[in-house]
Amino acid sequence: MSESKNRWLIIPKEIVTVDDQNRILKNQAVEIIDNKISAIHDLGSYPIEKFDGEVFNYPQLTLIPGFIQTHIHLCQTLFRGLADDLELLDWLQLKIFPYENAHNKDSLRSSVRAGILELQLGGTTTILDMGTLSLQEIIFEELIYSGMRAFAGKCMVDQNDIFPEFKSTTKDELKSSYQLAKDFHNESNGMIKYGFAPRFILTCSDELLRETSEMQKDFPGSIYHTHSSENKNEIAEVRKRYGQENIEHFNSIGILSDHTVLAHGIHVNENEINTLKKNDVRISHCPSSNLKLGSGIANIPRYLKEGISVSLGADGAPCNNNLSVFIEMRLASLIQKPLHGPKVMDAQTVFRLATIEGARALHIDGETGSIEVGKKADLVLLDLNGVEIPYTDNEHDVYSKIVYSASAHNVHSVMIEGKWVVNDRVSKNYDSKEVVSNAKTELNNLLKRV
Ligand code: GUN
Ligand code: FE
Repeated sequence: MSESKNRWLIIPKEIVTVDDQNRILKNQAVEIIDNKISAIHDLGSYPIEKFDGEVFNYPQLTLIPGFIQTHIHLCQTLFRGLADDLELLDWLQLKIFPYENAHNKDSLRSSVRAGILELQLGGTTTILDMGTLSLQEIIFEELIYSGMRAFAGKCMVDQNDIFPEFKSTTKDELKSSYQLAKDFHNESNGMIKYGFAPRFILTCSDELLRETSEMQKDFPGSIYHTHSSENKNEIAEVRKRYGQENIEHFNSIGILSDHTVLAHGIHVNENEINTLKKNDVRISHCPSSNLKLGSGIANIPRYLKEGISVSLGADGAPCNNNLSVFIEMRLASLIQKPLHGPKVMDAQTVFRLATIEGARALHIDGETGSIEVGKKADLVLLDLNGVEIPYTDNEHDVYSKIVYSASAHNVHSVMIEGKWVVNDRVSKNYDSKEVVSNAKTELNNLLKRV
């Protein structure tokens, strides 16, 4: 696939638009000029022979919008498999904070590369990343190099009883976040945006949480990203400190808005659900992480019933241990069925959470999340013809195929902002073998520093 011309026509078997009517188009082609979807042509009447750009003919492949994951920790990719079978606070204290604290530039870059490569090979085109305490510019450099659409920001920690070495001062956290936002917000033609990232309530002072919220308003289009209400021991500690539940406390200090993305939202009361609704807060649902850390099952059907924004995220590699949106979609559906009945979280609903609802959560649904004229060309071609996929050919079976049967291995090619980043299962920007061998070397080096 050459990039020498700036006009392309993709002719797939079918187009899953994820528009307001959930249209699935057959015998149609998506035209891309530069970075945008410029037209969708009906092949019954459109004279392809007159098209003066490059034509990609894929009669076997399904075209879908790029996936959006709204809670990721790229800095943790190296730690996959090193922190299994622990609950959240032990996981942070014994493993994750010491490991993150041991990063240097090389190990961080290696971790971020491995994470981005896995995400792109799996069809993810936009992420909200939580960053880490130091060296955040490395994460931005790699995101820019990779062509990923991303919200990212340095993780902020100004108090830490769990692992005291892993923190900075309130003043320094605010100062460095402000500088990073000035340096990187709206970089790469607006593909990179700042996501302010106070880590979670137990490692952030009220002053830090509040001041960060004020700062976020100085950068229109940025996001306020934190964890909330994930684990029972965590919220018991919150109750002890503040005499309130996690979201109640966030509300009392005025940090909740439609630009707030809260990862998890598992242990919440009625008052907190009303608060989320009233403030139009976004919930990032991370089913693998919630199961693996034994945190619980978020009441997503209730959130959806209340009209609360829900999108999906794989969280970090050591609490998953994959970064595949396919696994998150499948689990997001299956884990609710024993609790609420088999009709909830049907495949089409879940597919929307992984695409347009992710875009809506981040206020970029005018740009991405569906295949519609005028949107950026963030597109994924899936090969849904494997032995593991249903052999039917009814239009709406495509959601079932993608959510219940497909995996990252069914991703054929990926385009972000009109540029191919994965072409026939091969990354354009990274050599997979080199990324893995470098990750092994850097992990070994890092473990000597822990
Ligand atoms: N809470 C605070 N930090 C983290 C983290 O890195 N992962 C998860 N799942 N929860 C957190
Ligand atoms: Fe997380």
